[in-house]
Amino acid sequence: MSEYVPDERTVKSEYILEVKNLKKYFPADRGLFGRVKHFVHAVDDVTFEIKHGESLGLVGESGCGKTTTGKVIVALEVPTDGEIILDGIGIEEYAVDGFKEYHRKVQMIFQDPYESLNPRMTVFDIIAEPLNIHGIGNLKEREEKVAELLQEVGLTPPSSFMWRYPHELSGGQRQRVAIARALVLNPTFVVADEPTSMLDVSVRTGVMELMMKLREIHNMSYLYITHDLAVARYMCERIAVMYLGKIVELAETEELLKNPIHPYTKALLTAVPVPDPEYKKGEPDIMGSVSKPVDPPPRCRFYDRCPIRTERCAKEDHPPLKEVAPDHFVSCYEVSE
Ligand SMILES: Nc1ncnc2c1ncn2[C@@H]1O[C@H](COP(=O)(O)OP(=O)(O)OP(=O)(O)O)[C@@H](O)[C@H]1O
Ligand code: SF4
Ligand SMILES: [Mg+2]
Repeated sequence: MSEYVPDERTVKSEYILEVKNLKKYFPADRGLFGRVKHFVHAVDDVTFEIKHGESLGLVGESGCGKTTTGKVIVALEVPTDGEIILDGIGIEEYAVDGFKEYHRKVQMIFQDPYESLNPRMTVFDIIAEPLNIHGIGNLKEREEKVAELLQEVGLTPPSSFMWRYPHELSGGQRQRVAIARALVLNPTFVVADEPTSMLDVSVRTGVMELMMKLREIHNMSYLYITHDLAVARYMCERIAVMYLGKIVELAETEELLKNPIHPYTKALLTAVPVPDPEYKKGEPDIMGSVSKPVDPPPRCRFYDRCPIRTERCAKEDHPPLKEVAPDHFVSCYEVSE
């Protein structure tokens, strides 16, 4: 891939995105008079950065908090605590105009292209809607922009797709429309939430290749959410592994796959081997199944399933992420001290 060249939109900070001590708790149930007694700690003290032009993979089992992290970053959910900084500017500064400017810069592509597109709108209306909301261009200019984007996402000739409805498209075509809509305001940062996991296997690679190409052409950065390490390997320069609201390991992609250190990452690689004999397999499997983090105890979030836990792990708080090798961070007392 060609080297990333920052453009005038992205010069304020070394990072396009900084997430600091982010928390999102949801009410788990309500007691008398609607009082919330218990909370799901969906995202619990998560910190990471993404450089300009970089893709960070966010990987982990169902329910670990990937989508919630993405939704808080794109301001679809309000964080319980923590900081989100986009290209050097705190997200709270974008509240002044109701996040209008923020949503020009930051977009999200969702998992399910059947749910994310309004069935009563044509492809043109779906893609042009953000231009309407932001009052950009006249009708002719919007038609030109939509045609240009349809061409870019491989829905050609644009004239044969522009006036169709979502039910007249395949899953792969719908996801391409969703991608075109996400790009129409020229964003610098995109959260892609498992954009290929609901598509037929036969069209997944095409959509992934498209996302790689668009990232390069438009100088974008991605937070790429997936439960599939092979997809993360293809799409991302670095990977963060998440377990029940916590990032437990973060490293460059090849380093993480060749040298997984956290027992959960090892187990993930055993369960879903990356198709390459160089990568480690055959490590011990983990016990039990993933639970819901409702008022979790302060100890290590992985304790209940950890094959190498010790007495110390039961007594101490969840371990901090520590750098165990250059740019390789792990949260585990047994391997990082
Ligand atoms: N609106 C909500 N209200 C209450 N709990 C929620 C809400 N949204 C998510 N949760 C809970 O937060 C936790 C994290 O959910 P999230 O959807 O972020 O996980 P995920 O990693 O994206 O999972 P998947 O791989 O299944 O998409 C789960 O326990 C989920 O049940
Ligand atoms: S801190 Fe202890 S319980 Fe947690 S992952 Fe490490 S060994 Fe396992
Ligand atoms: Mg999800």
